[in-house]
Amino acid sequence: MTSRSDTPGPDTPAPATPGTGSPPPGTPAPGTPASETTATGIPSSETVAPSRAGRPFLNRRLAGFGTTIFAEMSALAVRTGAVNLGQGFPDEDGPESVREAAVRALRDGRGNQYPPGPGVPELREAITAHQQRWYGVALDPDTDVLVTAGATEAVAAALLALVEPGDEVIALEPYYDSYAACIAMAGGTRVPVTLRPRDGAYHLDLDELRDAITPRTRLLLLNTPHNPTGTVLTRAELSAIAQLAVERDLLVVTDEVYEHLVYDGEHVPLASLPGMRERTATISSSGKTFALTGWKVGWVTGSREMVAAVRSAKQFLTYVSAGPFQYAIAEALALPDTYYEALRTEMRARRDLLADGLAAAGFGVYRPAGTYFVTTDIRPLGGTADGFAFCRELPERAGVVAVPNAAFYDDRTAGAPFVRFAFCKRREVLSEAVRRLKGLAGG
Ligand SMILES: Cc1ncc(COP(=O)(O)O)c(C=O)c1O
Repeated sequence: MTSRSDTPGPDTPAPATPGTGSPPPGTPAPGTPASETTATGIPSSETVAPSRAGRPFLNRRLAGFGTTIFAEMSALAVRTGAVNLGQGFPDEDGPESVREAAVRALRDGRGNQYPPGPGVPELREAITAHQQRWYGVALDPDTDVLVTAGATEAVAAALLALVEPGDEVIALEPYYDSYAACIAMAGGTRVPVTLRPRDGAYHLDLDELRDAITPRTRLLLLNTPHNPTGTVLTRAELSAIAQLAVERDLLVVTDEVYEHLVYDGEHVPLASLPGMRERTATISSSGKTFALTGWKVGWVTGSREMVAAVRSAKQFLTYVSAGPFQYAIAEALALPDTYYEALRTEMRARRDLLADGLAAAGFGVYRPAGTYFVTTDIRPLGGTADGFAFCRELPERAGVVAVPNAAFYDDRTAGAPFVRFAFCKRREVLSEAVRRLKGLAGG
């Protein structure tokens, strides 16, 4: 079974994507082998094979979602013994005190039975205190907070709750894979707005965003800090987005799971801007902040009405989850500022180690302002400009696994020459990867 801790997947759902000349969603990447396996390890041919009367098992909304690039790349890493910088999960577990808190909760019988639907009060209060402490956002723990099975469930519940079939949902491209799948499951139409590389970073074109809004647009799905580009939307950009949302009466779902992994600039929660509180569902998760991605404790915050809507969908997805871990994450969120500062300092150092190493190896490097991913341009290396082909060859050529950014695009040509490396790994692992990547240029 493939870990999908950050699995932006290549394949996208059935609804038409207006405004792009890209292949239909679900079209395999150029050169994608037919025998690719799905995220669940099941050969994709099995999920799409006709069952009765020629009808595939997999419903049409999810057609094209059977495969992820991660299954292929992780298998490649295992087969070749390559350093896996493809997947975004830390290779060290989070704070011992927090893990001990989970053990205590298990032993003390806290959370071993169904916790309350919105989440245990201790965690809802800790989330509320966190939003107040870091962003000055005041929330009522009883009505404005919903605990979910990771940010993944939060995204799914939000989209299933807020989107009607036929609604358009604008998402920043390249995008985290679950966005496309969840928009499809909700019956919505995905409308990508592409972040473009310029001057060493990826930028949002606010005119493009404005032009993408139609009378059918229901919702903006934002992600800042942004996976995979590492872009952190500025206060000015977010203010312009907020103004658009108010003018055009749009809802916003904003995924802020990398909120504490910002190295340059600041993280500004959209919900803290004027007029946004009542129309924004803010999503975050303990996975990245506390290096505990396997616990799957996430949350949604927003107005009472917004949270109630999302809860209506969430209760029929998992109902509740991760009881003892909820108590432990309540303690984690209350860790002193020094924890958060040390995390940022360490991750910044790892970013620089990997980014400098990649630049020295000849890659074009987009040094991320946030997240734990570096996007690179492979064209300066002088070989192929096809990130898929490059990533498939890289384990043999250099003993390293990365992920082609094109997997996160509808417009695959826009993402073709870019490749993502994760730096949430120990420094010695990153140093070894950098050592292996030297000498690639000209290949
Ligand atoms: C942008 C983004 N959103 C959501 C998630 C999923 O978070 P969780 O593991 O809490 O479900 C990830 C994980 O990589 C992510 O990168």
